[in-house]
Amino acid sequence: MKKLFWIVPVVLFLGACGLGRSDSENASDTADSTKDNGAGPRGKAIVVYYSLTENTKAVAEEIQKQTDSDILRIETVEPYPEVYDDVLTIVQSQREADELPEIVKQEVDLSEYDSIFLGTPIWFGEPALPVEKWLSENELAGKTIYPFFTSGSSSIDESMGRYREILTQATLGEGLGITSSDKSQTASLVEEWLAQ
Ligand SMILES: Cc1cc2nc3c(=O)[nH]c(=O)nc-3n(C[C@H](O)[C@H](O)[C@H](O)COP(=O)(O)O)c2cc1C
Repeated sequence: MKKLFWIVPVVLFLGACGLGRSDSENASDTADSTKDNGAGPRGKAIVVYYSLTENTKAVAEEIQKQTDSDILRIETVEPYPEVYDDVLTIVQSQREADELPEIVKQEVDLSEYDSIFLGTPIWFGEPALPVEKWLSENELAGKTIYPFFTSGSSSIDESMGRYREILTQATLGEGLGITSSDKSQTASLVEEWLAQ
């Protein structure tokens, strides 16, 4: 019985100091709270993105790395040409004809996910056509969508406006835009955005 006089205060003291766990373990608790693939702050999450010249891919992979989410790349059945000016011509004519490119069917059960980080390059101010196509083929009611964009210099305002128009059944989070001039700060911009 005598022993209890010192055991109890020592245990309480250690508990209050957070001892018995190293600083690094305590720090990793903080990092884990940003992870999404489980019971994270956004529930179970997936990064879904389209990228023609890999800029959006780099941002998608950074988000995936920082959140430990699943990841899915949207791909067109017919690849766009290699030459940039030819892409502009084709995309412009698809837009004029209200035509969306066919995309490759992929087996993913979106009902498993609560949140989607949705990435696209900005094409003529708006989300790229393969992303529009993906949105037209998938049921996103009840999900939270966190949009991210890359562009030469355009702001995300017009693209966010487009999402507000079409994603009426989903909750839209704040968007992240990375232009070619802030590409080198991708990791920190993603980190700040995820802390929203
Ligand atoms: C068809 C097309 C249209 C584009 N339109 C715009 C635009 O309106 N504003 C802009 O800043 N950049 C525009 N860009 C540049 C891309 O948004 C930018 O290079 C983006 O980072 C490419 O992403 P990706 O490498 O993932 O394909 C356009 C590029 C293409 C191919």
